[in-house]
Amino acid sequence: MSIDEAKRLAGIAACDEVKSGMKLGLGTGSTVHHTVVELARRYHEEGLDVVGVPTSIATHDLATELGLPLVELDDVDALDVVIDGADEVDQAFQLIKGGGAALLREKLVAQASGAMVVVADDRKMVDTLGAFPLPIEITPFGGGTTQRAIASLLGCDASLRMDGDQPLVTDNGNHIIDAHTGPTLTDPAATEAALLALAGVVQVGLFIGMCDVVHLAGASGAERLVRPGGRLA
Ligand code: A5P
Repeated sequence: MSIDEAKRLAGIAACDEVKSGMKLGLGTGSTVHHTVVELARRYHEEGLDVVGVPTSIATHDLATELGLPLVELDDVDALDVVIDGADEVDQAFQLIKGGGAALLREKLVAQASGAMVVVADDRKMVDTLGAFPLPIEITPFGGGTTQRAIASLLGCDASLRMDGDQPLVTDNGNHIIDAHTGPTLTDPAATEAALLALAGVVQVGLFIGMCDVVHLAGASGAERLVRPGGRLA
Protein backbone atom coordinates (compact mmCIF):
# COMPACT_ATOMS: atom_id res chain seq x y z
CA MET A 1 0.00 0.00 0.00
CA SER A 2 1.35 3.44 -0.92
CA ILE A 3 1.58 6.16 1.71
CA ASP A 4 -1.20 8.10 0.02
CA GLU A 5 -3.42 5.00 0.03
CA ALA A 6 -2.79 4.65 3.78
CA LYS A 7 -3.62 8.32 4.32
CA ARG A 8 -6.82 7.90 2.32
CA LEU A 9 -7.83 4.80 4.29
CA ALA A 10 -7.27 6.54 7.63
CA GLY A 11 -8.91 9.76 6.47
CA ILE A 12 -12.06 8.02 5.31
CA ALA A 13 -12.27 5.66 8.31
CA ALA A 14 -12.46 8.68 10.64
CA CYS A 15 -15.71 9.80 9.00
CA ASP A 16 -17.45 7.00 10.89
CA GLU A 17 -16.94 9.10 14.07
CA VAL A 18 -19.30 11.71 12.60
CA LYS A 19 -23.07 11.80 13.08
CA SER A 20 -25.70 14.07 11.56
CA GLY A 21 -26.14 17.31 13.48
CA MET A 22 -22.50 17.53 14.54
CA LYS A 23 -20.35 20.62 14.43
CA LEU A 24 -16.88 19.59 13.30
CA GLY A 25 -13.38 20.95 13.44
CA LEU A 26 -11.72 20.32 10.09
CA GLY A 27 -7.97 19.84 10.34
CA THR A 28 -5.21 20.58 7.87
CA GLY A 29 -2.92 18.42 5.76
CA SER A 30 -2.79 15.69 3.16
CA THR A 31 -4.41 12.98 5.35
CA VAL A 32 -7.40 14.95 6.62
CA HIS A 33 -7.84 16.15 3.04
CA HIS A 34 -9.37 12.72 2.39
CA THR A 35 -11.67 13.17 5.41
CA VAL A 36 -12.96 16.49 4.12
CA VAL A 37 -13.57 15.06 0.65
CA GLU A 38 -15.47 12.09 2.11
CA LEU A 39 -17.52 14.30 4.48
CA ALA A 40 -18.51 16.46 1.53
CA ARG A 41 -19.51 13.35 -0.41
CA ARG A 42 -21.69 12.11 2.48
CA TYR A 43 -23.17 15.61 2.89
CA HIS A 44 -24.23 15.80 -0.76
CA GLU A 45 -25.06 12.13 -1.43
CA GLU A 46 -26.25 10.78 1.93
CA GLY A 47 -27.72 13.83 3.65
CA LEU A 48 -25.11 13.93 6.41
CA ASP A 49 -26.01 17.19 8.13
CA VAL A 50 -22.79 18.78 9.43
CA VAL A 51 -21.06 22.13 9.59
CA GLY A 52 -17.33 22.65 9.90
CA VAL A 53 -14.82 25.08 11.30
CA PRO A 54 -11.62 24.94 9.22
CA THR A 55 -8.20 25.10 10.89
CA SER A 56 -6.49 26.88 7.98
CA ILE A 57 -7.15 28.95 4.90
CA ALA A 58 -6.21 25.88 2.83
CA THR A 59 -8.93 23.77 4.47
CA HIS A 60 -11.40 26.66 4.26
CA ASP A 61 -10.77 26.82 0.51
CA LEU A 62 -11.02 23.03 0.08
CA ALA A 63 -14.32 22.78 1.99
CA THR A 64 -15.76 25.77 0.15
CA GLU A 65 -14.82 24.26 -3.20
CA LEU A 66 -16.52 21.00 -2.17
CA GLY A 67 -19.68 22.79 -0.96
CA LEU A 68 -19.31 21.69 2.68
CA PRO A 69 -20.98 24.30 4.96
CA LEU A 70 -18.66 26.24 7.24
CA VAL A 71 -19.15 28.46 10.29
CA GLU A 72 -16.83 30.77 12.19
CA LEU A 73 -15.32 29.38 15.37
CA ASP A 74 -16.62 32.42 17.25
CA ASP A 75 -20.18 31.70 16.09
CA VAL A 76 -20.46 28.30 17.80
CA ASP A 77 -20.45 27.55 21.53
CA ALA A 78 -18.47 24.36 21.05
CA LEU A 79 -17.58 21.75 18.46
CA ASP A 80 -18.45 18.08 18.85
CA VAL A 81 -15.23 16.68 17.43
CA VAL A 82 -12.19 17.82 15.49
CA ILE A 83 -10.58 15.50 12.96
CA ASP A 84 -6.98 16.38 12.16
CA GLY A 85 -3.67 14.95 11.02
CA ALA A 86 -0.44 14.72 12.99
CA ASP A 87 3.28 14.63 12.32
CA GLU A 88 4.02 12.28 15.23
CA VAL A 89 1.90 10.32 17.71
CA ASP A 90 3.38 8.62 20.76
CA GLN A 91 2.06 5.74 22.84
CA ALA A 92 0.29 8.18 25.21
CA PHE A 93 -1.54 9.81 22.26
CA GLN A 94 0.62 12.94 22.58
CA LEU A 95 1.21 14.68 19.25
CA ILE A 96 3.60 16.83 17.28
CA LYS A 97 1.67 18.98 14.81
CA GLY A 98 2.43 21.97 12.63
CA GLY A 99 4.25 20.46 9.68
CA GLY A 100 1.74 22.36 7.59
CA ALA A 101 2.22 25.54 9.68
CA ALA A 102 -1.42 25.47 10.91
CA LEU A 103 -0.71 24.58 14.55
CA LEU A 104 -2.19 27.72 16.16
CA ARG A 105 -5.62 27.43 14.57
CA GLU A 106 -5.46 23.64 14.95
CA LYS A 107 -4.92 23.96 18.69
CA LEU A 108 -7.62 26.65 19.08
CA VAL A 109 -10.11 24.41 17.31
CA ALA A 110 -9.00 21.31 19.23
CA GLN A 111 -9.47 23.12 22.54
CA ALA A 112 -13.00 24.11 21.47
CA SER A 113 -13.89 20.51 20.61
CA GLY A 114 -15.46 17.83 22.77
CA ALA A 115 -13.09 15.23 21.35
CA MET A 116 -10.12 14.96 19.00
CA VAL A 117 -9.72 12.27 16.34
CA VAL A 118 -6.38 11.99 14.55
CA VAL A 119 -5.85 10.46 11.12
CA ALA A 120 -2.39 9.21 10.21
CA ASP A 121 -0.39 6.64 8.33
CA ASP A 122 1.58 4.30 10.55
CA ARG A 123 4.94 6.01 9.91
CA LYS A 124 3.72 8.69 12.34
CA MET A 125 3.71 6.40 15.42
CA VAL A 126 6.83 6.87 17.58
CA ASP A 127 8.08 5.82 20.99
CA THR A 128 9.40 9.28 21.90
CA LEU A 129 8.39 12.54 20.21
CA GLY A 130 10.94 14.76 18.49
CA ALA A 131 12.45 13.07 15.43
CA PHE A 132 10.07 15.32 13.48
CA PRO A 133 11.36 18.88 14.06
CA LEU A 134 9.07 20.59 16.58
CA PRO A 135 7.15 23.49 14.96
CA ILE A 136 6.87 26.62 17.11
CA GLU A 137 4.88 29.67 15.95
CA ILE A 138 6.60 32.95 16.87
CA THR A 139 6.02 36.66 16.36
CA PRO A 140 8.03 38.18 13.51
CA PHE A 141 9.02 41.03 15.86
CA GLY A 142 12.12 39.93 17.73
CA GLY A 143 12.11 36.68 15.78
CA GLY A 144 15.89 36.26 15.81
CA THR A 145 15.94 36.75 19.59
CA THR A 146 13.18 34.19 20.06
CA GLN A 147 14.93 31.76 17.70
CA ARG A 148 18.13 31.97 19.77
CA ALA A 149 16.19 31.61 23.03
CA ILE A 150 14.47 28.46 21.74
CA ALA A 151 17.80 26.96 20.63
CA SER A 152 19.31 27.72 24.02
CA LEU A 153 16.32 26.42 25.99
CA LEU A 154 16.11 23.13 24.08
CA GLY A 155 19.84 22.75 23.44
CA CYS A 156 19.39 22.09 19.74
CA ASP A 157 19.39 23.72 16.33
CA ALA A 158 16.31 25.86 15.72
CA SER A 159 15.70 26.92 12.13
CA LEU A 160 13.42 29.59 10.70
CA ARG A 161 11.02 27.91 8.26
CA MET A 162 11.37 29.41 4.79
CA ASP A 163 9.04 29.73 1.83
CA GLY A 164 11.50 30.12 -1.02
CA ASP A 165 13.92 32.86 -0.02
CA GLN A 166 11.50 34.50 2.46
CA PRO A 167 10.42 33.41 5.94
CA LEU A 168 7.19 31.40 5.76
CA VAL A 169 4.25 33.50 6.98
CA THR A 170 1.44 31.60 8.74
CA ASP A 171 -2.29 32.24 8.29
CA ASN A 172 -1.96 34.44 11.39
CA GLY A 173 0.91 36.55 10.02
CA ASN A 174 3.54 34.86 12.19
CA HIS A 175 6.71 32.82 11.54
CA ILE A 176 7.60 29.20 12.34
CA ILE A 177 10.72 27.92 14.08
CA ASP A 178 11.48 24.20 13.64
CA ALA A 179 13.38 22.86 16.66
CA HIS A 180 15.59 19.87 15.82
CA THR A 181 15.48 18.16 19.19
CA GLY A 182 15.70 14.60 17.94
CA PRO A 183 13.57 11.94 19.68
CA THR A 184 14.24 13.30 23.16
CA LEU A 185 10.90 14.82 24.26
CA THR A 186 10.20 12.51 27.17
CA ASP A 187 8.25 15.22 29.04
CA PRO A 188 6.49 17.16 26.27
CA ALA A 189 4.19 18.99 28.71
CA ALA A 190 7.23 20.49 30.44
CA THR A 191 8.80 21.37 27.09
CA GLU A 192 5.58 23.07 25.99
CA ALA A 193 5.30 25.08 29.22
CA ALA A 194 8.93 26.22 29.04
CA LEU A 195 8.57 27.35 25.43
CA LEU A 196 5.29 29.18 26.11
CA ALA A 197 7.08 31.18 28.81
CA LEU A 198 9.12 32.90 26.07
CA ALA A 199 7.31 36.12 25.15
CA GLY A 200 7.86 35.72 21.41
CA VAL A 201 6.38 32.22 21.31
CA VAL A 202 2.76 32.30 20.16
CA GLN A 203 2.10 28.55 20.25
CA VAL A 204 3.93 25.21 20.31
CA GLY A 205 3.12 22.22 18.10
CA LEU A 206 2.78 19.84 21.04
CA PHE A 207 -0.76 18.56 21.64
CA ILE A 208 -0.89 16.96 25.08
CA GLY A 209 -3.97 15.24 26.53
CA MET A 210 -6.06 16.26 23.53
CA CYS A 211 -6.15 13.29 21.17
CA ASP A 212 -8.78 10.67 22.03
CA VAL A 213 -8.75 8.37 19.01
CA VAL A 214 -6.23 7.68 16.24
CA HIS A 215 -7.24 6.14 12.93
CA LEU A 216 -3.94 4.63 11.83
CA ALA A 217 -3.43 2.99 8.47
CA GLY A 218 -0.61 0.90 7.03
CA ALA A 219 0.10 -2.26 5.07
CA SER A 220 -2.26 -4.35 7.19
CA GLY A 221 -5.17 -1.92 6.84
CA ALA A 222 -6.70 0.64 9.18
CA GLU A 223 -7.08 0.37 12.93
CA ARG A 224 -8.88 2.53 15.49
CA LEU A 225 -6.75 3.21 18.56
CA VAL A 226 -8.59 4.60 21.59
CA ARG A 227 -6.85 6.50 24.41
CA PRO A 228 -7.70 4.78 27.69
CA GLY A 229 -9.59 7.25 29.87
CA GLY A 230 -10.08 9.58 26.90
CA ARG A 231 -13.32 11.26 25.90
CA LEU A 232 -14.19 8.54 23.35
CA ALA A 233 -13.18 5.55 25.51
C1 A5P B 1 -0.63 21.05 9.84
O1 A5P B 1 -0.04 22.15 10.45
C2 A5P B 1 -0.19 19.80 10.52
O2 A5P B 1 -0.42 19.78 11.89
C3 A5P B 1 -0.76 18.58 9.85
O3 A5P B 1 -1.98 18.18 10.42
C4 A5P B 1 0.25 17.52 9.94
O4 A5P B 1 1.44 18.07 9.41
C5 A5P B 1 -0.12 16.26 9.18
O5 A5P B 1 -0.09 16.51 7.82
P1 A5P B 1 -0.16 15.32 6.78
O6 A5P B 1 -1.45 14.62 6.99
O7 A5P B 1 -0.09 16.03 5.45
O8 A5P B 1 1.02 14.44 7.02
